[in-house]
Amino acid sequence: MKISFAENASPKSGAVVVGVEEGKKLTPSAQELEKETGGAISRAMKASKFTGKTGQSLQIAAPANVPIDRIVLVGLGKGLSDLEFQSLGGNLVPALNGAGDKDVVVHVDAGADVLPVAAANVAAGMLMRSYRFDRYRTKETADQKPTLKKVTVVVNGTTAARKAFKPLEAVADGVTLTRDLVSEPPNILYPESFAEEAAKLAQIGIDVEILNEKKMEKLGMHSLLGVGKGSARESRMVVMHWNGGAANRRPVAFVGKGVTFDTGGISLKPGPGMEEMKWDMGGAGVVTGLMKALALRKAKVNAIGVLGLVENMPDGAAQRPGDIVTSMSGQTIEIHNTDAEGRLVLADALWYTQDKYKPRLMIDLATLTGAMIIALGHEYAGFFSNDDDISAKLSAAGEATGEKVWRLPLAEAYDNQLKTDGADMKNIGGRAAGSITAAQFLQRFVNKVPWAHLDIAGVTWSSKDAPTVPKGATAFGVRLLDRFVSDNYEG
Ligand code: BES
Ligand code: MN
Ligand code: ZN
Repeated sequence: MKISFAENASPKSGAVVVGVEEGKKLTPSAQELEKETGGAISRAMKASKFTGKTGQSLQIAAPANVPIDRIVLVGLGKGLSDLEFQSLGGNLVPALNGAGDKDVVVHVDAGADVLPVAAANVAAGMLMRSYRFDRYRTKETADQKPTLKKVTVVVNGTTAARKAFKPLEAVADGVTLTRDLVSEPPNILYPESFAEEAAKLAQIGIDVEILNEKKMEKLGMHSLLGVGKGSARESRMVVMHWNGGAANRRPVAFVGKGVTFDTGGISLKPGPGMEEMKWDMGGAGVVTGLMKALALRKAKVNAIGVLGLVENMPDGAAQRPGDIVTSMSGQTIEIHNTDAEGRLVLADALWYTQDKYKPRLMIDLATLTGAMIIALGHEYAGFFSNDDDISAKLSAAGEATGEKVWRLPLAEAYDNQLKTDGADMKNIGGRAAGSITAAQFLQRFVNKVPWAHLDIAGVTWSSKDAPTVPKGATAFGVRLLDRFVSDNYEG
């Protein structure tokens, strides 16, 4: 889909989108069409429930006296926020594809104080909603494929619109990369192939280091390595560096759980639904897409992205319940359930990150616990933090981007659930408060660095379409953390 901005347009075919404010108040572009069509817009509104409320839309087959094919009215309510303009754009995509439109002109001439910014958000929403993972569909016919090819956003102030669109497009590109990684099947995307995909980010100025098993062994990462023991695939750790800030500035660090497939290991998961565990690398996928977004928009920040990449499989060499491993931190862990593997991967990834890079803060993302889905469902992601300032900033970024997060508690009493006689800790804390005890486990490896843990188990994959997020891989976290960085850690 090609997007461009123009000061005006006189299309000879295709669809034209115009806004209507609440109370059937026509925008200038709608008024013009109303005139050209001899009143087709007010007639159509009269024959429908459309009044211009936010979220409403109405398709009108264009009358014979105009060259275009279709008019689409969209409700602007009493004015829209940036996010609502993204949703407006996103919602247009299935509507236009459903009608078979190839070209569309979208007029943005009301509903916001800064129209070029609104126009940029409409375009970004369309871009994000038009994502489709169809690489492996070989039998799709032309009429099953999306038709929309060309979008012209008409706005007064194209220079400003293009300028506002640039960073939004960078984030959308990051979102696309994350969605691709999360969607790829686990026979294609495994630790080594994931690391190779990350290495490609060198093309946009990101330095990428890859640690193989031998290197991780030398570093003492037996917590992470234990998880991969039952897999025919080697484990990997990836460290991506984006140095867009002042040379002496300590980095912000993002750490992702990258379990490319989670069978549960010897504590094997039940069969039904196990295919979903291909997206157990969602945290690592978000970190990779975020790094791409930061680099593409040349963010003025030093950031590192760390991926713990393993496959959790059962075989003769697999880790057993009862095994005791020594993590890189020196702390010992008694394995009580091989399906609580994400925390074992993050334990070494977090310790290594703070030890080697002395970050000013660390944020980890992980599809860590099924209990998170029980607690918050698929709307908010849960987070945990040892720092009130980071927490407030995360919540604010969530509100601003629509990727909402809700803080849950950490407390010593929960930490006690991890105690065991045989080692410093066990890797599960019992049925009660499963997401919290998982977070308590991680906290033992952050060495008091300001930190937050996002449990994205409920929001990484969606079974239903949302305005800017088609069903499937959501990339939840890319927009959130890009905003978290741009609002607080640049310049
Ligand atoms: N990857 C899963 C968590 C998960 C489950 C994410 C469902 C998304 C959807 C994680 O590795 C896991 O298996 N967690 C266990 C922990 C338990 C053994 C303490 C869980 O949540 O059941
Ligand atoms: Mn598991
Ligand atoms: Zn897992």
